[in-house]
Amino acid sequence: MFILFLTYNYIVLGNCGKNAPLLLEALLENGAAATAAEREKSGKTAADLALAQGNTDLADRLRSLEKSAAVTEKFDRCELCNAKMKSRTKLHFLRDQVRNKKEENPLVLELFEDETVVEELIRPVYHRVSNCMHLRKEVTESMALIHAVKRLKHLRNAEDGSWRECHIVDLCCGSSITSALALQILPGCAVTACDISAPSRIPHYKEGGVSDRIDYLQHDICAQSFMDALRQRIKPGRRIVVLGMHCCGELSIRAIEIFTQMKAEVIFLMPCCLPSKASLIAPEIYAVKDQAAQYLVWGQHLSDRAKAVSDSTDLSVVDAVLSARNVLITARGRPVPVRGRSPVPAAARGQSAPAPPLPPGVF
Ligand SMILES: C[S@@+](CC[C@H](N)C(=O)[O-])C[C@H]1O[C@@H](n2cnc3c(N)ncnc32)[C@H](O)[C@@H]1O
Repeated sequence: MFILFLTYNYIVLGNCGKNAPLLLEALLENGAAATAAEREKSGKTAADLALAQGNTDLADRLRSLEKSAAVTEKFDRCELCNAKMKSRTKLHFLRDQVRNKKEENPLVLELFEDETVVEELIRPVYHRVSNCMHLRKEVTESMALIHAVKRLKHLRNAEDGSWRECHIVDLCCGSSITSALALQILPGCAVTACDISAPSRIPHYKEGGVSDRIDYLQHDICAQSFMDALRQRIKPGRRIVVLGMHCCGELSIRAIEIFTQMKAEVIFLMPCCLPSKASLIAPEIYAVKDQAAQYLVWGQHLSDRAKAVSDSTDLSVVDAVLSARNVLITARGRPVPVRGRSPVPAAARGQSAPAPPLPPGVF
């Protein structure tokens, strides 16, 4: 059966010319009408798309089909955003694999170390996480960063072991999986998730009862106004941890600038695609031909940039991340006294103290 919004996109917005109305009619008569309540990624139905194109007659017609299609649907919808809900999400299936001892990835297993975390993420308000397309891969990416944060023992409150002095900034967060996991795994931490895209991609944090700990900053991170907007979100007295999972191209450079300007404690950056050759940002990338090698050169380039502005940097390949884009750059900020507290001594900041042992296969 054709999904109507795809049909609509293809025929009306695509290149079907004068035959578009005929094709649309044929598809509606042959089953597409039953899918009129479907939504595309940004949450729009075919009726919404028709309306946005100024085709009000067609929009009205599709809207009435939308209502009858919704009544006959055999699945539930999210009462908050109307998304299609499944009785078993991808997270349920992943949990089955773990419980049946069929999962071996150490980063996935680390998420399941505390089942209460998973139970929370299985709640319908988190359906945008639990049902995300490539959940297992995304979990390994997010957990690589959270694993790194967990090793910053000096950021934990000595009295209750919580992360209440830590403010995480999740740059280019996408659907904010890393933020959602951090909220659950690092009790007490505050999170600002930033992305240029509409908040329709992120979980229903308010209804999940965590809006006092997380906010979403919809902003272009390259805009001049971004720094002020971000500063206003940081809770007073907190140490900032910047996370940049798969910021595209030169956005990784911007992430390092943000880390510096925010005087953050640390940045964990896993770069994604390369800057274009024409940009001349890192011409050394294109001196090698192999794509995997080019990515490593890009990682090294970013690490060198971070080195120029930080106390110490590190570059490692995280094999357990299920993506070829798995270089992790760590840069520690120069110490800044937090109001009312003495600066943290270098040893306590982990510079001379050896890092705790890692589970096999991680880092
Ligand atoms: C490859 S995705 C990574 C998403 C997420 N961190 C993850 O790993 O799943 C890149 C994200 O960067 C966002 N983005 C692109 N340009 C941006 C900009 N100028 N400012 C803020 N976000 C941007 C996109 O909307 C997208 O969500």
